[in-house]
Amino acid sequence: MTIRTIGAVAALVAGTLLGGAAQAQGRLNLYCSVQEDWCQLMQTEFEKATGIRVAMTRKSSGETYAQVKAEKDNPRGDIWWGGTGDPHLQAAEEGLTADYETPRMGEMQDWAVQQWRTGRKRTIGIYAGALGFGFNTELLAKKNLPEPKCWADLVNPAYKGEVQVANPHSSGTSYTMVASLVQIMGENGAFDYLRKLNTNVNQYTKSGAAPIVAAGRGETLIGIVFMHDAITQSVRNFPIKTVAPCEGTGYEIGSMSIIAGARNLDSARKFYDWALSAEAQALGARAQSYQVPSNKGAATPPQAPKLSEIKLINYDFPKFGSSEERKRLLSRFDAEIKIAN
Ligand code: F6P
Repeated sequence: MTIRTIGAVAALVAGTLLGGAAQAQGRLNLYCSVQEDWCQLMQTEFEKATGIRVAMTRKSSGETYAQVKAEKDNPRGDIWWGGTGDPHLQAAEEGLTADYETPRMGEMQDWAVQQWRTGRKRTIGIYAGALGFGFNTELLAKKNLPEPKCWADLVNPAYKGEVQVANPHSSGTSYTMVASLVQIMGENGAFDYLRKLNTNVNQYTKSGAAPIVAAGRGETLIGIVFMHDAITQSVRNFPIKTVAPCEGTGYEIGSMSIIAGARNLDSARKFYDWALSAEAQALGARAQSYQVPSNKGAATPPQAPKLSEIKLINYDFPKFGSSEERKRLLSRFDAEIKIAN
């Protein structure tokens, strides 16, 4: 090899390495746990704002938690955005996610900062939403059934096979339901209730919002979901009425966490700061997602259920987001609620 060829090869190698590094800085692997439309909008708008290329995977909250855990020795995701706060808290406790303090901390609602404190600085609140249910008004009239107004109504034998809800392992919505019922009825009372509810449930779906999509199409009468997901169906002109259960209900602090060992840490931090901005939080409403945003400067969509008018319980996030409690309640669910699928 001549000196000139060696020089050319060296330049080529250096170029490839530098190019590779530059490329690596310009990528982001996003794990997303809200509705597909909103995930896609976040992906494309972040790409537009920064030029960083985003590979997005959408899965429910419990499923994403399980994936992050399974990948812990070889992390493939950089950031987990969206999904209920409990599995984010569990991931934080288990060291699956990384500490970060955003320069936007002063712009955040207190509940979002509180989530960050509870989560050892490894997760932060991005939105809030109340749990409830929705039903298909046309189907209800056709079947001549009473309007359900309370949790207690959903176990009425008149609704046998008429209720749909997600599986609490895969879905954060469904875990929020289990944890909320435990806080409203006491643990044994909640499990008695879940056993009765089981006889009325026609399917346990993977994703939390799926039951209300099915109700909109007339495939089930009632879907237990976050109220904002029921509102989305009404906005899309499906005959859905949204209910805040009369006994009171639980709520979520939808969260975001950087994955420990993220390969694209700079991109993950850029996404984190961007996702907390008022402009990025306005994208939810554009995707017909009506949660309450966590940036104080972001307008709450007018369609969003008014949390101040709903009887919300004082949801114990440190307890129900703890690794021990989530594992224990899910095991008890498996042992006592014999679901058909
Ligand atoms: O549809 C959006 C949403 O309800 C979020 O508010 C929530 O964090 C997430 O879905 C929960 O989804 P899943 O129950 O599928 O984990």
